[in-house]
Amino acid sequence: MKRTIRDLKNIKGKRILLRCDFNVPLDHWGDILNDNRIKQALPTISYLVDQGAKLIVCSHLGRPKGYDKYLSLFPVAVYLMKYFPNKVKFCGKVVGSEVTAAASKLKDGEILVLENLRFDSRETENDPTFVQELVSLADIFVDDAFGVAHRKHASNYGVALKLPTAVGFLIEKELEVFDKAFQTPAHPFVAIFGGAKVDDKLNLINNVMKFADTIIIGGGMAYTFLQAKGINIGNSIVSLDLVDDAKRIMDEAEKRNIKILLPVDHLAICEGKKGVVRTKELFKGMTALDIGNKTIKLFTDEILNAKQIIWNGPLGKYEDSRFKKGTMKIAKAVAKSGAYSIVGGGDSVSAVEISGVADRINHLSTGGGASMKLMEGKVLPAIEVVDTL
Ligand code: 3PG
Repeated sequence: MKRTIRDLKNIKGKRILLRCDFNVPLDHWGDILNDNRIKQALPTISYLVDQGAKLIVCSHLGRPKGYDKYLSLFPVAVYLMKYFPNKVKFCGKVVGSEVTAAASKLKDGEILVLENLRFDSRETENDPTFVQELVSLADIFVDDAFGVAHRKHASNYGVALKLPTAVGFLIEKELEVFDKAFQTPAHPFVAIFGGAKVDDKLNLINNVMKFADTIIIGGGMAYTFLQAKGINIGNSIVSLDLVDDAKRIMDEAEKRNIKILLPVDHLAICEGKKGVVRTKELFKGMTALDIGNKTIKLFTDEILNAKQIIWNGPLGKYEDSRFKKGTMKIAKAVAKSGAYSIVGGGDSVSAVEISGVADRINHLSTGGGASMKLMEGKVLPAIEVVDTL
């Protein structure tokens, strides 16, 4: 079991480096368009502040190459000021003498927010000099950045090897949810996979096959499976090099008596035709971009019967209003099912939020890549290095 912040004793006055994932969407005015990740980090911050720790909070934001004024963490610091009035300070630097000076002035229960870690290229390189600069700021390292735990970066992996460590409440909750889902799954267990690309989902499906009763496959990735079954897919997205893998997965599922459900009708665009075509068969020139009504019914019936659901990846091009119906209907079915439901992956979470049923999903993971790795049965490197009890 990983040490959590509850296990840290006598932290009043201790300098704690807290790694969060504040990788949130911002507009060009610095308005935060979705604050979910920050909200999810508040319990950990509140707890450490209440214990009287001196908090040095750091995060990445986006994938900048050097300084980028549109990716500053200043808006996040301002956001935190609302929750912790008169306690939050912002330093416009990532490391260095100004940061050291600001950190040394912190009083018990105060928070110093550092600038975007990725403004310094040494962060993603896990550079030992950068690790050392971060380490020198703190007595203890707390990792609550679940979303980036699949990466070996300086501020999560590197510092954890050098300081006493613990995980925050957010990581604790994410690990508990995924552990329970795979160690003591409730049946029928329905896994839903979608998204455009099939290559990053094959390991996931292989692992989930050990536990699931039904695997629903939609979105762009479904067309590689349909191709493997010899079904016409028109011009729909396909990974030809993975057709054999898709076939192997379907054969294996049949052997193990696991149901795999694929789309049986589609909404497509068709070369030379205006508008959207509703079709059972995809002919040459047609590109499927959403599941059709029969498929929605087929998938919904299975979902309503489930006791546990995991979902990763939208079932169509939901960001285009012409093709969002399938994903929205499936989100509503998951909410209605009463099954224990986990949704992981940035697009699937945002689709659930758009569908208006987010509050009826048991767990919306804050991790995209990280939650996928857990579903693949992999260990997250940044969490592996956190001290155990
Ligand atoms: C995410 O948004 O998935 C995490 O914050 C990780 O971001 P990254 O993929 O840029 O490392």
